[in-house]
Amino acid sequence: RRKLILDLDTGIDDAMAIAYALGAPDVDLIGIIGSYGNVIVEEGGKNSLKILELLGATDVPVYLGESHASQTDHFDRLPVSANIHGENGIGGVQLPEAKRPLETTSGVDFLIDAVNQYGKDLTLVPTGPLTNLAAAIKKDPDLPTKIGNVTIMGGALTVPGNVTPYAEANIHQDAEAANAVFTSPIRLTMVGLDVTLRNILTKKETQEWRNLKTKAGTDFADIVDYYIDAYADFDATLHGCVLHDPLAVGVALDPTLITSFDLNMIVSTDKESYGRTIGDTTRINQPDANITVGLTSDSKRYLETFMNYLTKLFKQN
Ligand code: BDR
Ligand code: CA
Repeated sequence: RRKLILDLDTGIDDAMAIAYALGAPDVDLIGIIGSYGNVIVEEGGKNSLKILELLGATDVPVYLGESHASQTDHFDRLPVSANIHGENGIGGVQLPEAKRPLETTSGVDFLIDAVNQYGKDLTLVPTGPLTNLAAAIKKDPDLPTKIGNVTIMGGALTVPGNVTPYAEANIHQDAEAANAVFTSPIRLTMVGLDVTLRNILTKKETQEWRNLKTKAGTDFADIVDYYIDAYADFDATLHGCVLHDPLAVGVALDPTLITSFDLNMIVSTDKESYGRTIGDTTRINQPDANITVGLTSDSKRYLETFMNYLTKLFKQN
C-alpha cells in the first residue's frame, strides 16, 4: 500500500482531502502535518483530529508544522478565510473534541524521518502553504531527490490568482518557501487553480450524503454546504464549491485525471506579483523541467471517484 502524508491547513476542502485519502483503496495515510492559513496551526491540527475521529480513523497521527511564514514571526491566518471556511475552519460545525492529543514531534521532523524511511514509496500532498516542505528541505538538502511523489494544491499559471490578480492563496502565504521548493531539484505536480476551478461540488451531492442518515454524512453535508454558500457570495454562477484540495489527493493517486505539461518555474517574491507561479526564463531551454503543471482535468471521472470514496466512508460512519 502506498504511504501518504497530507500537509493541511484544515479548512473545509482540506477536510474533504482527508476523507478522499481515507476512502481511496490501497492508501496508507501514515500521518497528517498541520499548517497555517485557513486557520492557525493548532486549530488546523485539532480540526484534522476531529475529522479523523468522525471518519473512524483514530490511528492516524497528527503533527504540527510551522506556525507562520518563513520570513515573518507572527501567527498567520488568511484574513478572508473566516468567511470561506468559517470562524473555526470547518463551517462553524461543532464536532466533538478529539479523544487523543496532537503528536509532540514536529511535523517537519516527522516528514524528514518518513522520507528517509520510505523514500520513493512516499507520497506527500501539501494543500496549504509550502512552509513545512521548504523547512524540511533546508534541514535535509537531499530530501528533494529522495522523496517519491509530491503533488501540491497551489499556484495558478493560465488563470488569475484568487487572493491577488497574480497569486493563489497557498503560494501567497509564503512565496519565499514556495520558491525554494520550486527551484530545488524536487519533481512536483502542481494542481493549481488551472485545474481545480474545473471541479465543482454542488448541494445535489451533499444531499446524497445527508440521505445516508449517518453522523459523518450529515456533518460533512453541513460543513460543505457552508463552503458552497460562501462560494455563492463570491460567484453566484458557480452553484457549488471548488474541490481544490481533494483534487490534489486524487491526482497524486491517479495522475491520468489531468493533462499537464512540464516547466521549470519560479515563484515571484516581488511586491506587486508576490506569489505568482511562472516559467523561469533562465531555465526555459533546459530539457529536464521539474514541475508538472496540471492544465485540464477529467472532471466527470474525478467527481464520480470522489463521490464513490466519500460515500463509502460516510455510510460506515
Ligand atoms: C486553497 O486555499 C485554501 O483556502 C484552500 O483550502 C485551498 O487549499 C485554494 O486557493
Ligand atoms: Ca488548504
